[in-house]
Amino acid sequence: MGEKGEAFVTLTTNDAYVLGSLVLAESLRRVGTKRRLVVMITNEISETLKHNLHTVFDDVHVVDLLSSEDFKNLQLLGRPDLHVTFTKLHCWNLTQYSKCVFLDADTLVIQNVDDMFEREEFSAAPDSGWPDCFNSGVFVFKPNVDTYKSLLQFAATQGTFDGGDQGLLNRYFNTWPTNDIKTHLPFTYNVVSRPFYSYPSGLKAFKQNIKIVHFIGADKPWQHPYNYSSGVVTPLPDSRHDAEFLQYWWNIFIDSVQPTLNPSAEGLIGRLAALSVDNPVDSSIMPLEEIQNLDVKLKKNCEEGR
Ligand code: UDP
Ligand code: GLC
Ligand code: MN
Repeated sequence: MGEKGEAFVTLTTNDAYVLGSLVLAESLRRVGTKRRLVVMITNEISETLKHNLHTVFDDVHVVDLLSSEDFKNLQLLGRPDLHVTFTKLHCWNLTQYSKCVFLDADTLVIQNVDDMFEREEFSAAPDSGWPDCFNSGVFVFKPNVDTYKSLLQFAATQGTFDGGDQGLLNRYFNTWPTNDIKTHLPFTYNVVSRPFYSYPSGLKAFKQNIKIVHFIGADKPWQHPYNYSSGVVTPLPDSRHDAEFLQYWWNIFIDSVQPTLNPSAEGLIGRLAALSVDNPVDSSIMPLEEIQNLDVKLKKNCEEGR
């Protein structure tokens, strides 16, 4: 352990991503991590889920929502919702820790990754869309309030080329592509869950080396229909997430998270909590309608340049 302690840190600004963060925390416990588990939340999180987070994480930090307000660049990603990923930058304020590993709430740890703390700021794995950039869903950093301030300053003057934190962090830590290879995490520490050209053969050859899976993209594991009786998740028709990875996420969710959810909660959380042998499938569990409604609202904001 580092002098002031080391921690895995994640972020969730709404109830849906809380599901991801709870599964992520459980996956870290299952691989026997020796580090502390920290979640940053905003005030949008419901009280009942705050309670869940407090039982699973060592530390729950309430932070202010930060928005990139850059809906124009987010249009290229097709993810207007990602303007809130600037909230991630608060992780540099966690100065009670000497070194941390940030993990997106849509990641899942398959094997122990405590060795990541042997690396220095800033270490990350290549982004599969543009491998000369790093993916900002998994990275090693050193909390420092000056870095936080300087990142905000940098954002105000330089902006972000993807509209989210990744486009900002890649410009800020711009020596990463040519830095010492030690700052390059192997791809196995941030394996995307969707195939692209050489991916299936790579997966066949190196599956056993995978440490962290990252469910990148608009559809997340908790949005895929699961049958409580058969114990099987059926990937959504347009989804390209690997079925085995989705199943792994759901196994942990049903085993350790779903039984702890409050059945009187509203919306997605309540419906997931109600799954049982007597109510194995809830057709409304596919929150597609909710997602589409949300998209309509966000697209409108986008068009209006908000
Ligand atoms: N996030 C969040 N609320 C949101 C969107 C994102 O808390 O509405 C956080 C969450 O930790 C998430 C991360 O920001 O994992 C990055 O977003 P996402 O994983 O959806 O981006 P992707 O990896 O799909 O590009
Ligand atoms: C990326 C990363 C995610 C980041 C987002 C916005 O695809 O996976 O961690 O928040 O882009 O920059
Ligand atoms: Mn992600």
